[in-house]
Amino acid sequence: MDLPPLPLDRTSGLPLAVQLADAVRGAAAAGSFRRGDRLPSTRALAATLGVSRTVTAAAYDQLLAEGWIAARHGAGTFVVGAPDAPPGPAATPARPPTAPAGTATTSLEPGSPCTEALDPAAWRRAWRAGADALPALLADDVGLPAYRAAVADQLLRHRGLVTGPDAVLATAGTTAAVAELAALLPRGARVAVEDPGYQRVAAALRRAGTTVLPVPVDDEGLVVDALPDRLDAVYCTPAHQYPLGARLSARRRLALVQRARAGRFLVIEDDYDGELRYDVAPLPLLAALAPDVVAHLGTTSKVLSPTLGVGWLVAPPAVRAGLLVARASGARPAEAGQRVFAAMAAHGDLARHLRRLRRVLGERRAETVAAIRATGHEVRGDAAGGHVVAPLPDAAGEIAVAEALAARSVTVGLLSSYGLTGPTGYGVVVGYAGPDRPALRRGLAALQEALAGATADVTQRAAISHSAQPV
Ligand SMILES: Cc1ncc(COP(=O)(O)O)c(C=O)c1O
Repeated sequence: MDLPPLPLDRTSGLPLAVQLADAVRGAAAAGSFRRGDRLPSTRALAATLGVSRTVTAAAYDQLLAEGWIAARHGAGTFVVGAPDAPPGPAATPARPPTAPAGTATTSLEPGSPCTEALDPAAWRRAWRAGADALPALLADDVGLPAYRAAVADQLLRHRGLVTGPDAVLATAGTTAAVAELAALLPRGARVAVEDPGYQRVAAALRRAGTTVLPVPVDDEGLVVDALPDRLDAVYCTPAHQYPLGARLSARRRLALVQRARAGRFLVIEDDYDGELRYDVAPLPLLAALAPDVVAHLGTTSKVLSPTLGVGWLVAPPAVRAGLLVARASGARPAEAGQRVFAAMAAHGDLARHLRRLRRVLGERRAETVAAIRATGHEVRGDAAGGHVVAPLPDAAGEIAVAEALAARSVTVGLLSSYGLTGPTGYGVVVGYAGPDRPALRRGLAALQEALAGATADVTQRAAISHSAQPV
């Protein structure tokens, strides 16, 4: 790379190595170096600057220790403590990194797919095959035929839903599909949403001008008896309640569709990770039970990647027609992700991937549950999906665990933040799909320490409050 100016003043009393380190820091803070820029070797830089190699080596050692640069064996030395993007006119100088390079944050937040389970060769094949045909001349309102056929097959084989490609609409993912459905509802429409629940969907509903009405959930999923009257729609995650992890019981499924028919409201079934169960067989979809009142939504976000930006929808004919009218003058799902998904399905790679994903995630779940239970904490949620919940007794416990984890550079979801209007409970929501194995192990070890500390805190608090009781 072209080096930015690194001014050295031989007349100043400051050692040249210190000046050089200052100059590199200054250039990184000003944006002249970007994260990932390769630095010259100490020998080459010494020759360029006309200083001895001891000077450049001492400056690099200092910058390495501070975390501004990192050395990769055999590859060279790279800038790590600088902005990614060119700073705009109002950009502020980058601050020195707080943690040395190598102590990157480990995220155990839920929501990520398990890319480690993805066979890179299959992924590459799908992208290549997706590019075999030139793009269509016009974007397609319903989605590519090959994609819709692959989705119909997937729904039949993995979700027991008998449908055809003509009933499937491609979407840009679940959140986008909920926004499209909400746009069909009258302004101020009353939409019941599970509480705790998926905040992105609640936000999409609010943005569309609907009134979000929180409905409690328990170990049988959405509490159907608690649904308010005069509803326009209900949004729920029957296969695996998000985030608590229960599945909607058979009797509540029946009760929900009966209420929907009687009250003439739409049920939005978010089947975000329905393909991922590791114990009992899934219950029939709401869409199979009552295709007349259920809009079923699926996504590639959990089984492949949210970066594909595609999902699917199977809805009653009137809803489907309304969506297509809106699409005629609005946004349409993009083609690339559909092609990749269809290609993976056509080559049998998707079925292989799903088998492997279930095995890998089943193992990861078992490891995560064992780690949490070993600390004496309970785990909530069915053996499914990519996350579990470990409840904590109160806000103080949740904060203590979050702080203990932050000190170890680990992040998790906090149950209190899933409440639609405020906390409905406390605990950690632990995603085990995203990190690679070593990161998962590191994260779980930190979680164990943090939870063990929380147990001690709770015991101590209980002891204190107990001793404060009059005897
Ligand atoms: C409950 C729930 N629904 C849906 C999704 C996927 O949404 P999208 O398809 O918009 O990525 C997620 C992803 O985290 C989720 O947690």
